[in-house]
Amino acid sequence: MGSGSSGGTAQGYKTIVYLICMVAALGGLLFGLDQGFIANSLETLTQHYGLDVHDKESYSAILATGGIFGALLSGIFARFLGRKRSLVLAGLIFTAASAYSALLPSLPVLSSCRFALGFAVGIASFVVPLYLSETAPAKIRGSMGTLFQLMITIGIFLIAGSNVFIARAFVDPATSLPLMFLTITVFAALMFAGSFILPESPRWLMLKGRKERAVAVLRRTLNTQEEIDREIGEIEEALHGPQGAGIGIVFRGYFFKVLVVGILLQMFQQLVGINMMIYYSPTIFGYAGMTGLLALMAVPTVNMLFTFPAIRWVEKWGRKKLLYVGAGIMTVTMLAAGFAFQSIGDVSDPALIGGAPKTLLLVSVVCYIFGFAVSWGPVVWLVCSEIFPLEGREVGMTITTMINWTFAGLVMNYALSFMGRFGNASIFYVFAGFCVLAILFVSFFVPETKGITLEELEFNLKKGVRLRDLGTRA
Ligand code: BGC
Repeated sequence: MGSGSSGGTAQGYKTIVYLICMVAALGGLLFGLDQGFIANSLETLTQHYGLDVHDKESYSAILATGGIFGALLSGIFARFLGRKRSLVLAGLIFTAASAYSALLPSLPVLSSCRFALGFAVGIASFVVPLYLSETAPAKIRGSMGTLFQLMITIGIFLIAGSNVFIARAFVDPATSLPLMFLTITVFAALMFAGSFILPESPRWLMLKGRKERAVAVLRRTLNTQEEIDREIGEIEEALHGPQGAGIGIVFRGYFFKVLVVGILLQMFQQLVGINMMIYYSPTIFGYAGMTGLLALMAVPTVNMLFTFPAIRWVEKWGRKKLLYVGAGIMTVTMLAAGFAFQSIGDVSDPALIGGAPKTLLLVSVVCYIFGFAVSWGPVVWLVCSEIFPLEGREVGMTITTMINWTFAGLVMNYALSFMGRFGNASIFYVFAGFCVLAILFVSFFVPETKGITLEELEFNLKKGVRLRDLGTRA
């Protein structure tokens, strides 16, 4: 998140500031609602649409394809339409696509709606943090950045819970499915309506040479003339500094080096297998004969609960330590989950599976999610927002976000059929292997970015300091 020295005062914040924060929170929540939707609706979707394994994977993964395109175009939207209108656009797509899904159209149309939802998530996940960094008073910008992460996991949890509730209350999929989609629609409509009332970002207005409008916005968000003058001064200074470079920056050696670090971090964030759990944990527990509430809710609950302390630990312990500990826990727990499935073997009737392998599987998956939530979940996004030099930050974050969605899509698209083809245990061993590779990668190439300013990092990078030493004070 951007920094600065102006911001909230003893007079407190104006109502509009709360609205800004709320809409931002809704952006994160919608990301989570769409990401978490599949887990406890897959069964209902299957009943209504008669999905086979391949259909299930394709419908789940198409969100990621939309996310790739949304992330790709979000920079263009933000620059040419403006931040506010990009948010209105995302809100509109969220609302229209989820409301249309509730009409239960044919499968190809339903899939197009999910693509559109992914597209909106791609836009929101770029524009919301950008808008906040430019519009929220400086004092609360940092906490807004972490709020966005938290809201994603809250969204995943909420939709998992409400889908379970709806599926149990209404057994007929023709009733329950529309209700599941309408739950998303309610929050989407709130975001759409809310973003209409938002002020445009003052920094974008200044970028377009509309200083008077920028001052008018600041008058609405800040309390005193002194604060307004200071903010305008800071924006003007920033506009004279290095501006967002084009895509050509990837060919500059120093930038290319950190870009590779960001790309590999995002790739490993997905290849450790998180979205197999977020999307398919009820299915996987079902293979082991577990269908109760615990099997349906354990993953989203633990994921949400442990994201809260992670936000503090990341500043206390540093990024790399958490990445090591998280990947270590994930390695051990994936091996244990694989072992649990191996000892279950080929049982035709899940009711015959004994208590010990079930418990081992459940405990491993819960500890695995703990390991992810306190480390690779928040840390990777944080480090990717820190390592790029200012002029290439937009390009760097766009590319690395697209990589995240690409690998998320691969996992969603192939996880279940991989299990079907090579045995249920196999995929857990593959993910354990990626966790080990991730540890090696972190140790050789990832810099520790705790306690160093972004300017110092940039200075070291341009001086040619080794990647893993970038975070060392010059
Ligand atoms: C990942 C998502 C994942 C979520 C789970 C995020 O950091 O990028 O793919 O679904 O964490 O909380």
